[in-house]
Amino acid sequence: MEPLEFLTEGQVYEVLLVTRSNVTPVGVVRKGNRLFFKLFGGRSAEELKEHPYASIQVTNDAELLVKLGLNLPVSLEFAEGNRFRWVKGLPGFYGMVDIREEPYEDDLGKTTVLACSLEPGGIIEGMLPPKPFSRADCALVEMAVDLTRLIVAVKAGKREPSLKLGRRIEENYSLYLRFGGGSKTAERIVAWSRELLERIL
Ligand SMILES: Cc1cc2nc3c(=O)[nH]c(=O)nc-3n(C[C@H](O)[C@H](O)[C@H](O)COP(=O)(O)O)c2cc1C
Repeated sequence: MEPLEFLTEGQVYEVLLVTRSNVTPVGVVRKGNRLFFKLFGGRSAEELKEHPYASIQVTNDAELLVKLGLNLPVSLEFAEGNRFRWVKGLPGFYGMVDIREEPYEDDLGKTTVLACSLEPGGIIEGMLPPKPFSRADCALVEMAVDLTRLIVAVKAGKREPSLKLGRRIEENYSLYLRFGGGSKTAERIVAWSRELLERIL
């Protein structure tokens, strides 16, 4: 079995990136037999510069992805072997990471990103519970991604982009509630977003 055969080329998939001592959600895109992703700073980027080996693992737990992205506490068990570490029980693969620093510009300004790619060198065995994704899950993930951008936008004093992100978080929160979502994490995201926006208004 080809490790990446289930990933449609060109689509962004949200997965877990496990480095030497960190785990973070990351959006990956498959091209051929490699996965490409970008890190906008953070601990994982620093760790990959020192030790370019990582595991990429799949979860269908939106709360887990979101909590890890916002550095909220989660309980996970890890295992490790020669150069690699991974979350016990989740399927995925490991490999050496090719890294390159690149200039990057968007409406939040100019920055440097770590452009990474990984070709699976081995498979991590695991099993996911039979839990389909829900529309509430999708809305929650959107809220969390926008919040991580809002944190950067507010820090950089970018008023218009901040307001736009804040509006989108509110819209996705309405959808989240309409789709039956009701987690504390979603409430925390909206509260956090409102607090950040007060600073820039
Ligand atoms: C679902 C989700 C996907 C994310 N994808 C990325 C990504 O692809 N690249 C990135 O730099 N940050 C991404 N983030 C934001 C990081 O998780 C966040 O900035 C984190 O604090 C940085 O992680 P680290 O310091 O633990 O490495 C994502 C966040 C969420 C919630």
